[in-house]
Amino acid sequence: MGKQLRIGMIGYGFMGRAHSNAYKRLNDFFPVEHRIVLQVACARNEEKARAFASNWGYQRFETDWRKVVEAPDVDVIDICTPNDTHQEIAIAAARAGKMILCEKPLARTVAEAQPMVDAVEQSGVPNMVWFNYRRVPAISLAKQLIDEGRIGRPFHYRSNFLQDWTIAPDVPQGGAALWRLDVQAAGSGVTGDLLAHNIDTAMWLNGPITRVVAKTETFVKERMHQLTGKVEPVGIDDACAFLAEFANGSIGVFESTRYARGHKALKTLEMNGADGSLSFNLEECEYLDFFEYTQKETGKSTESHVRGWRRIHVTNGEHPYMNRYWVPGLVIGYEHTFLNALADFVAGLESGVKVQPDFRNALQTQRVCEAVIQSGRTGAWVATGVEA
Ligand SMILES: NC(=O)c1ccc[n+]([C@@H]2O[C@H](COP(=O)([O-])OP(=O)(O)OC[C@H]3O[C@@H](n4cnc5c(N)ncnc54)[C@H](O)[C@@H]3O)[C@@H](O)[C@H]2O)c1
Repeated sequence: MGKQLRIGMIGYGFMGRAHSNAYKRLNDFFPVEHRIVLQVACARNEEKARAFASNWGYQRFETDWRKVVEAPDVDVIDICTPNDTHQEIAIAAARAGKMILCEKPLARTVAEAQPMVDAVEQSGVPNMVWFNYRRVPAISLAKQLIDEGRIGRPFHYRSNFLQDWTIAPDVPQGGAALWRLDVQAAGSGVTGDLLAHNIDTAMWLNGPITRVVAKTETFVKERMHQLTGKVEPVGIDDACAFLAEFANGSIGVFESTRYARGHKALKTLEMNGADGSLSFNLEECEYLDFFEYTQKETGKSTESHVRGWRRIHVTNGEHPYMNRYWVPGLVIGYEHTFLNALADFVAGLESGVKVQPDFRNALQTQRVCEAVIQSGRTGAWVATGVEA
C-alpha cells in the first residue's frame, strides 16, 4: 500500500460533491502511488455535515473548519466554500503545514490573495487552485497544438461564458444558496465567478494579459438580502465584456453574463493565428475544432480545395488524459476535469514537478479580474500588473 493522502473537505455544496467524486475515483483510474482517504468532511450544520460525510464515505465530520485544519490525521485541506472564506482557511492551513487545494477565484481581491500566496510559499506546502477547465482534454489538446506551433503567430483570442439564471428581479441575494449575488461573499459577479476561468485558460494558452478595458453592468440594482431580510443594493457585476491586450501582441475579447436568455453554461473559446485557428465549446466538450492553414510537417499551406475546419473527436488514447478512460470514440464529461486536475496534483507530488495553477499562478488571474472590475468603474484601460 502506497502513502496516504488524507483529505479534509471544507464545504459540502456543488464543489464539495465534484471534488469528492474525484477523490473517490482517482486510484481507480490513475496509476499514482498515493492512496486517497476521505478523512473528514466539514460544514457548519451538524446534520448536513453528517449526511454528506455518510453519503460520500468520509470517515468522520466536523462543524468547525479550524478543527480540520489542526487535525493531525489530515494531509490535504480542500477549500470548497464561498470566496470570502478562502483566505482565512488557506492561511491557517498553510501555517498548520497542510497541502491546500483551493477553489477559484483564489480570493475576492488581489490584496486578499497576496497573503495567501505568501503563506503557502513561506510554509512550502504544495498547493493548487481548481481551475479545472484546463483539464478538459480538448482544451489540453489546444495547448498542445499551440505549443507544437500549429497556430503560428496569434492574432485573436475570444472567449465567452454565458448563463441566464439571475434575470428575474425577485431572485434574492446572499445566504447559503445565493452568496454569488452578494458582493461581500463573492467579491465580484461574473468576473470572479465565470471570467476567472476564461482568463486562467487564456493566459495558459496565450500568455500574460497586460491591459484591459471593460464594460460591466448590474441590470438589477436592488435585491432582497436573505441574511438581513431587507432590499439592498446589488454590488456585483451581472455582466462584463472586456478587451484585452496580450504580451505576445494578440488581442482578446471576453464576455460573460447571467442574462443571456437561453444559455446555461455556454463557454467557448477561439484562437486565430497566422497558421491556423482553434475553437472549443463546452456544450460539445469532447470536440476541438482546428483549422490548419499551414501544415506543420511540410511548412506548406494546405491546398485550398481541401482546406477547412477539422473536428477532432478528442477520445483517442494519445489525446490528453484519455488513455486513463475508455476506448477511442467514447466520451468523458465535466466531472472528469476535477479527476484529471487531482491526478496532475498527485503526480506532481510524486515527480517533484509543481502542478499549475498554484496560488502564485492564480494570483495572476486575480490581477486581471481586479483590473477588469476597476476598468468597469472608470471606463479606462487598466494595466494588469501580471508577471511575465
Ligand atoms: N471550479 C469550478 O468550476 C467551480 C464551480 C463552482 C464553484 N466554484 C467555487 O467553489 C467555491 C464553492 O462554490 P460552490 O458552488 O460549491 O458553493 P455552494 O454554495 O454549493 O457550497 C458552499 C459550501 O460551503 C459551506 N460553507 C460556507 N461557509 C462555511 C464555513 N465557514 N465553514 C464551513 N463550510 C462553509 C456551505 O455550507 C456549503 O456547503 C467557490 O469559491 C466557487 O467560486 C468553482
